[in-house]
Amino acid sequence: MESSGAPSETEATVAKAASVICAASHLVAFTGAGISAESGIPPFRGDNGIWSRYDPKILDIDYFNTNPARCWPIIKEIFYDFFGAAKPNRAHLALAELERDGLLSTLITQNIDDLHYRAGSREVIEYHGNSRLLACPSCRKRFEVAKVDLTRLPPRCDCGAVLKPDFVFFGEAIPANALAASEEAARRADVMLVIGTTGEVYPAALLPREASRRGATIIEINPQESAYTGDITDIFVRLPAVTAMERILAAQ
Ligand code: APR
Repeated sequence: MESSGAPSETEATVAKAASVICAASHLVAFTGAGISAESGIPPFRGDNGIWSRYDPKILDIDYFNTNPARCWPIIKEIFYDFFGAAKPNRAHLALAELERDGLLSTLITQNIDDLHYRAGSREVIEYHGNSRLLACPSCRKRFEVAKVDLTRLPPRCDCGAVLKPDFVFFGEAIPANALAASEEAARRADVMLVIGTTGEVYPAALLPREASRRGATIIEINPQESAYTGDITDIFVRLPAVTAMERILAAQ
């Protein structure tokens, strides 16, 4: 594994990452909360993480189903008031540019903040669903959140059931289409660009491992080591996502 420490070493690592990306025939990106950190969205884990300030049980499916009126105001505050005000950063934009240039085949994200889509990426697999839509667990109807009145909580479907954000809660299964499409992308990847994830949340965390097992080169961008670093990572760019992606694009 190569690691970046001194500036010249970082430069060499960035140059290596850029050349591997350019030569890829099936480049897949896999992103986590860290890519949105520079958009002002804190990661989930760690000292200043979202779960250090809020109780994660609000996203436990059993707790939500029995206490929707208690969960919804907190869900609205985190995922609609706060996330909704965030804007895509230059790392999100760089991935959209790689897709437009035909270099990036598929983007798999664990994030539900919609920032990849808003940055212009279109081949996005939203592994944990998204916050754009609310779903009715009873009649399965979906609503664009922008068209739902969130001043009256909990929001309800026409059929009367409480609506739920269309993202995966703790205790819920990964949507079958996202599961199948991401596994296929991981199998096909010859290069996987892993950005801003601890690699600790399963089954998502298996995707880079499966790609690596099948021979893909794993490029990791993270200012800190993750579960992948020192294990499956081949090229470790120890930088924040925006700086790393800008330098990689400039080096191409
Ligand atoms: N650039 C790149 N990476 C960063 C940056 C940055 N500017 N800032 C922080 N990171 C890294 C951290 O070092 C950490 O490795 O981003 C990672 C964030 O880790 P987590 O908060 O655990 O996020 P993630 O791995 O995406 O979590 C996976 O857990 O709670 C669930 O469903 C939720 O999708 C989420 C899943």
